[in-house]
Amino acid sequence: MTGSTDVWEVMSTARTIRRFTDEPVDDETLSRCLRAATWAPSGANAQEWRFVVLRSPEVREVVAKCAAHALEVIEPVYGMTRPADDDNSRRARTNRATYELHDRAGEYASVLFAQKHFPTASELLLGGSIFPAMQNFLLAARAQGLGACLTSWGSYGGEALMREAVGMPDDWLLVGHVVVGWPRGRHGPVRRRPLADVVRQDHWDTPATGIG
Ligand SMILES: Cc1cc2nc3c(=O)[nH]c(=O)nc-3n(C[C@H](O)[C@H](O)[C@H](O)COP(=O)(O)O)c2cc1C
Repeated sequence: MTGSTDVWEVMSTARTIRRFTDEPVDDETLSRCLRAATWAPSGANAQEWRFVVLRSPEVREVVAKCAAHALEVIEPVYGMTRPADDDNSRRARTNRATYELHDRAGEYASVLFAQKHFPTASELLLGGSIFPAMQNFLLAARAQGLGACLTSWGSYGGEALMREAVGMPDDWLLVGHVVVGWPRGRHGPVRRRPLADVVRQDHWDTPATGIG
């Protein structure tokens, strides 16, 4: 699947891509993703965000270390193991792609999303001022046929490493990290719980009527 300008197709097929070709992401494509990120809302329209593009060999080396740290954490949490070569189940395919992404993390371009830390607001509320920018970035990537994967590599042991590598000041929150590249494989429909499972009407326990 290539790019698309149909917003419904873009949103419903922007699934995570973890396997990439060797073709670098050009500045123009990346700029469009970053510009879309800046179109997102933020509290009081403060736009106190920074998007740090990670491309140099030195910084990629740090990214690879962060990915290895994250893998150590998520493997037991998700019960992940490296799949056998002949296992072609959905889970094995996802795990294989996830291992490939983490093993080859140092080969890809990626972007760090940071938000200024205002002490008057909770970190969750501050996150709300940059999560929409990250989603716009992901949708702009999908619209251009570019693959992307949100990661937790800037969390766990990776946070200190990434902060130091890019010189992030202490009064900024490292909120997110997204790997980008040209997909090996295709975008495709996202798999999500049905609306009825997650929508309620007026009360926590009341299913919504007429919505579905
Ligand atoms: C906050 C956050 C952190 C994530 N961290 C990782 C990660 O470290 N490694 C990874 O392979 N995928 C990561 N993902 C991707 C999710 O696994 C993926 O979005 C989810 O399984 C849904 O799959 P889909 O995007 O293909 O529909 C992360 C997603 C989010 C929202």
